Amino acid sequence: MSKSSKQATWGGRFSKGPAELMLRFSESVSFDQRLALFDLQCSEAHSAMLEEVGILSTSEKEAIHAGLATLRSEIESGEFAWDMSLEDVHMNIEQVLTERVPEAAKLHTARSRNDQVATDMRLFFKAACTELQSALEAVLTALLDQAEKTQQIYIPGYTHLQRAQPVSVAHHLLAYAEMISRDLTRVAAVQDQANWCPLGSGAIAGTTLPIDRESSAQKLGFVDQDGNVRVTQNSMDAVSDRDVHLDFTYACSVIGIHLSRLAEDLILWCSSEFGFVDLPQNFCTGSSLMPQKKNPDAMELVRGKSGRVVGDLQTLLTMVKGLPLTYNRDLQEDKPPVFDALEQSLISLQVVEGVVSGMEMIQDKCAEAVADPALLATDVVDYLVQKGVPFRNAHHIIGALVALAEEKSMPLNELSLQDVQGVDEHFEADWVDCFDVVKALESREKIGMPGPNEVKSQIARLRRKLG
Ligand code: ARG
Repeated sequence: MSKSSKQATWGGRFSKGPAELMLRFSESVSFDQRLALFDLQCSEAHSAMLEEVGILSTSEKEAIHAGLATLRSEIESGEFAWDMSLEDVHMNIEQVLTERVPEAAKLHTARSRNDQVATDMRLFFKAACTELQSALEAVLTALLDQAEKTQQIYIPGYTHLQRAQPVSVAHHLLAYAEMISRDLTRVAAVQDQANWCPLGSGAIAGTTLPIDRESSAQKLGFVDQDGNVRVTQNSMDAVSDRDVHLDFTYACSVIGIHLSRLAEDLILWCSSEFGFVDLPQNFCTGSSLMPQKKNPDAMELVRGKSGRVVGDLQTLLTMVKGLPLTYNRDLQEDKPPVFDALEQSLISLQVVEGVVSGMEMIQDKCAEAVADPALLATDVVDYLVQKGVPFRNAHHIIGALVALAEEKSMPLNELSLQDVQGVDEHFEADWVDCFDVVKALESREKIGMPGPNEVKSQIARLRRKLG
């Protein structure tokens, strides 16, 4: 078959086929073939609806459905030969189907590739969100399992990358569990947003034919929790809107940023300077030159890939901005960044799950780092506040103690009672109890604090959320 006859779906007004360069430039089948199964599903529902309203006879619909079923198995098994000269996934499928099943010449009745691709993508997003949710749940489970094991391991928490106050490793990991749990909520919101059916919007202004939009939407599962069918409400918006693409890629970007921050903490923690954690060997690599090295490449790649996903979002934002209504071919470029965002997010989540599950805290290094009594200087301030000293004065007094300890080259907690009473008369012998890390954490049992019971109840809460 010649190239121009292969372009038959829109070739009617043309006497020449496109240049080979134009075919290569404009094809999308190399990447949108990923939508093939959604496209078949869309065609099944559309043709079933056409039969219901009397546009197709039952035998025409059945012939089309049988043809679509054969295509499905060929595509699933990888046998199907995609043809770049047929531009995109939609025309590849329709052309081959029509060659085999003449009745399929009626399939594109009351439909345009514009509402077709919008519908395919919404089906894709609904499935992609489910995939993301299970990967997020696996990371959340790994974080909770690791938190379970590290409730009695204490490390300094940091601000400005300076040691600040002691926390349990569990409390630190639960901060990431909160982020992942918000990511789950965000992805669910994207999935809900995707759940509106554009089919029937046509190219831009619907159709004069008596179609039943609700019926095809229902067949495709565009239904809310109460069973109400959801169809988009403006045909021009429906074929040109790319909000779900943006929302989805934004959700992936935030996941990437959360994973990147966790990766950065682990990269620091496994350095000799910190030495808090041993990362699993199967996610580390060696150096081709330096035999002693064990590098946290997996975590560095997670950090790096998050930048790539943020770039995908940027690509989409820039593409959509300033496009006049409605469909413009620019929009064909909406797919690679979305697919990339999904793939990179999924694989990063899997890697983080592996690293978090396999990591081991190095307890003596953690204990050594958290032993600095200065980490509890704020608790000594609270001690004076409990004795009625105004906070500002108390803060000043402890500042003076820190200076005195420095002057005497001794740790804060080794100042004598006489020394500290010399600075303020409210100190009593029990002031040194402030430096007991376990007690310090036990005194922090309000919601969201690192107290051991509170940490336990947060682990339980997040486990219940996982179901
Ligand atoms: N491959 C196209 C895309 O993804 C399908 C829509 C084509 N529509 C058109 N009017 N050329 O955007």
